[in-house]
Amino acid sequence: MENKITVKDILALKGKRKVTMLTAYDYPVASLVDRAGIDMILVGDSLANVVLGLDSTTKVGMNEMLIFAKAVTRAAKHALVVGDMPYESYQVNPQESIRNARRFIDEALCDVVKLEWFDRCLEVTEGIVKAGIPVVGHIGLTPQTAAAQGGFKVQGKDAEAAQRLIEQAVALEKAGCFALVLECVPEKLAALITQKLRIPTIGIGGGVNCDGQVLVINDMLGLFERYTPKFVKKYANLSPLILAAVEEYKKEVIEQKFPDEAHSFTIKEEELKKLKS
Ligand code: KIV
Repeated sequence: MENKITVKDILALKGKRKVTMLTAYDYPVASLVDRAGIDMILVGDSLANVVLGLDSTTKVGMNEMLIFAKAVTRAAKHALVVGDMPYESYQVNPQESIRNARRFIDEALCDVVKLEWFDRCLEVTEGIVKAGIPVVGHIGLTPQTAAAQGGFKVQGKDAEAAQRLIEQAVALEKAGCFALVLECVPEKLAALITQKLRIPTIGIGGGVNCDGQVLVINDMLGLFERYTPKFVKKYANLSPLILAAVEEYKKEVIEQKFPDEAHSFTIKEEELKKLKS
């Protein structure tokens, strides 16, 4: 495909310009993200929260993820599309991970996959990379295992925890990841990790020194009202706009102002007469 971003392009951006990444889950939004020229679209398992209304990303599975991923890849002509591996697809049964990663590529036509840090993630990453599928790693706050991390908290706040994150980052690069998401880590630690790696780091709550940034699109568009993490900047506030439009529609339907002539169809009087006789 012409002008399609590749893994090589993402690697080449390190030290040159910041990598831009956003989540998207459906065709219309992914089309706009792609048209805006964003480098990478993540079909994130965050859809469990912001689209499906679930209370945990662990509650979404491969079948749901593939439906959303297919909608996004239909729209993405330019951006590299990242399929986010759901919890059950690699953490419950690491042996299954390569098969599931391949489903993102073969069935949903994603370009690459992403997986979160867990105790066997190095072996899983190596296996998927050896199968020819590029992998984005994810360390720091890892929502699929947040309960074990003591909740949704900033990670790496003391020297020991920070050292562990540096070691995880280096190990994931060695295992073959071509990019690494750093979620909710102190800005200066993210800068240290970024300096240590040859692959780009992509921050979400990781400060400005990461090689790139990612946000959940429903958060940055003001389309998710349940909670807003500190690292989210709202670039638009769509919820009140949608609410006002729906209220206006409801009022016009009840008052018979909609549909008006402009939104209705006609039949010739003579045809109507024929029909009535
Ligand atoms: O699922 C997701 O949206 C993510 C981002 C928070 C990086 O993993």
